[in-house]
Amino acid sequence: MEEMFKTLPQHTSSWLKGKQTLYKYQDVWNHEKFHAGGILARQSFKARSNDVFLCSYPKSGTTWLKALAYAIVTRKKFDASTSPLLTTMPHNCIPTLDKEIEQIIEKHPNTSRFAPIATHLPYNSLPESIRASNCKIVYVYRNVKDVIVSYYHFMREIYKLPMEDAPFEEAFDEFCQGFSVYGPYWDHILGYSKASLERPETTLFLKYEDMQKDPISNVKRLAEFIGYPFTAQEAKEGVIESIIKMCSFENLSNLEVNKTGLGEGSIVPENRFYFRKGKVGDWENYFTDEMIEKIDKLIDEKLSSTGLALK
Ligand code: A3P
Repeated sequence: MEEMFKTLPQHTSSWLKGKQTLYKYQDVWNHEKFHAGGILARQSFKARSNDVFLCSYPKSGTTWLKALAYAIVTRKKFDASTSPLLTTMPHNCIPTLDKEIEQIIEKHPNTSRFAPIATHLPYNSLPESIRASNCKIVYVYRNVKDVIVSYYHFMREIYKLPMEDAPFEEAFDEFCQGFSVYGPYWDHILGYSKASLERPETTLFLKYEDMQKDPISNVKRLAEFIGYPFTAQEAKEGVIESIIKMCSFENLSNLEVNKTGLGEGSIVPENRFYFRKGKVGDWENYFTDEMIEKIDKLIDEKLSSTGLALK
């Protein structure tokens, strides 16, 4: 693969001071490592019809979705005082297809029904067996302006660049041009949106902002969709609220594992990078009028066919 990467178009991010180079493979920009994971997943992963995939563009709410899905699926085994989520960061509770393919393949046939698997792979880059089967896909998305701000800080932290050395304007321009991990962002959301129109019964779109506004209905929808609906008794006993509380930003971001844990072997060296503010609308502190105009135009141009409220 090393030789193959040398032949691909490359992009080195100027705002990250040359610390990150992305490669374009089959229309997707990414790190070599994640491309390699995706290639391996396509070669070797065989989905089962009852698998559930948690899909997202990075910085759209993946960590939260993983925590919620894990808490829902394991609620008979653990409660809010015994859940592994209290000591293990959500990314280590639910594996990611394109990052941990070897471990997934090893465990996959033995995992319980509906044990969810996460991925940032674009729809067209998923293993064929996922696209050809009746697997369920949950896609979490978020106002792209907040995605860009979140992405900016995440990358800046990974590459240890203080804000004054990492101009937001440049990060914004690169993102808009499609130079971002698993980018272009537009193609990512468009791919899943098209797929959901073709197979609506197997795809659930959840919106980060809606989950913040109305967590109860969204968690219920998620549980039902992945095959673990709450019973009336559970609803009465407050199980839904308790899961929401356990998986809240306030709770997770204050757990020791998420404050000081290290991402061994990961390109993300510290778990805390996944927990920044967890708020809706932080973009207002970063976007100029010109940026708002540019991004709104891009959303209209590229994503109006999705019917999703992305502004
Ligand atoms: P901010 O950078 O805006 O704070 P991902 O999980 O896809 O990498 O997305 C990370 C974003 O989700 C970050 O947004 C992070 O703070 C936020 N986040 C992480 N855990 C969360 C939770 N439990 N509830 C709400 N938001 C959360």
